[in-house]
Amino acid sequence: MKIIMLGAPGAGKGTQAKMIAEKYGIPHVSTGDIFRANIKNGTALGKEAKQYMDQGLLVPDELTVKILLDRVAQEDCAGGYVLDGFPRTIPQAQVLDEALGKQNESIDYAVDVDVPDENIVKRMSGRRACLKCGATYHVEHIPPKQEGICDSCGSDLVLRDDDKPETVQNRLKVYHEQTQPLIEYYTQKGILRTVDGTMDMEEVFRAIVAILG
Ligand code: AP5
Ligand code: MG
Repeated sequence: MKIIMLGAPGAGKGTQAKMIAEKYGIPHVSTGDIFRANIKNGTALGKEAKQYMDQGLLVPDELTVKILLDRVAQEDCAGGYVLDGFPRTIPQAQVLDEALGKQNESIDYAVDVDVPDENIVKRMSGRRACLKCGATYHVEHIPPKQEGICDSCGSDLVLRDDDKPETVQNRLKVYHEQTQPLIEYYTQKGILRTVDGTMDMEEVFRAIVAILG
């Protein structure tokens, strides 16, 4: 099964993608996590991506598409995957569709996790992220067992550089301009499914499982 998670920054794409990956036994592929891992390790890719990410802008398509296609070509993705944060522009979606089409494959579902902008800024300031394994927490809604430490891998949790309120506003603007058109794109293809992302995370997950089967 190949699934795309759509939704504004902070809608809960990463939270749900992790749960989907676990339940269906498929890899969770997040372009944001790949970029953050590169930033942490000081790679050339990380240095380039950081310039855009810190301003809340998208990393250029050429760079992002290459990284994503390399990742999904790896063996563990042969049985499907859940994409989180990709595609984010119409050209990215078209490149993905073309690459899959060459192998007679296609995306099964694009799941839009719908959360109004008002709720987003509040969520982001409370988010804590693990840069090692990609787990996310929220200081109020989804706290880790031990403050500041990742439940899954024991690493330190951090506030992401791009979660400052002014950067979040910019990410929302970029989302509406460049990413939201994908909702129409996947509606046209007949694979868009929308879930209410304002419910608590277990309820959102139940709604997604009802769609995926
Ligand atoms: P990326 O890492 O993808 O960030 P994003 O889309 O801005 O989304 P987030 O990770 O911030 O939010 P999320 O929807 O995953 O929410 P989460 O589950 O954490 O991208 C970062 C940057 O990288 C981009 O800005 C761009 O520069 C670059 N980039 C990445 N991909 C790219 C691409 N394809 N093209 C170009 N550039 C790209 O949840 C948020 C918080 O809410 C957490 O604290 C969580 O615990 C909490 N929460 C989750 N669900 C609930 C719930 N139901 N109720 C209450 N709280 C909840
Ligand atoms: Mg995320």
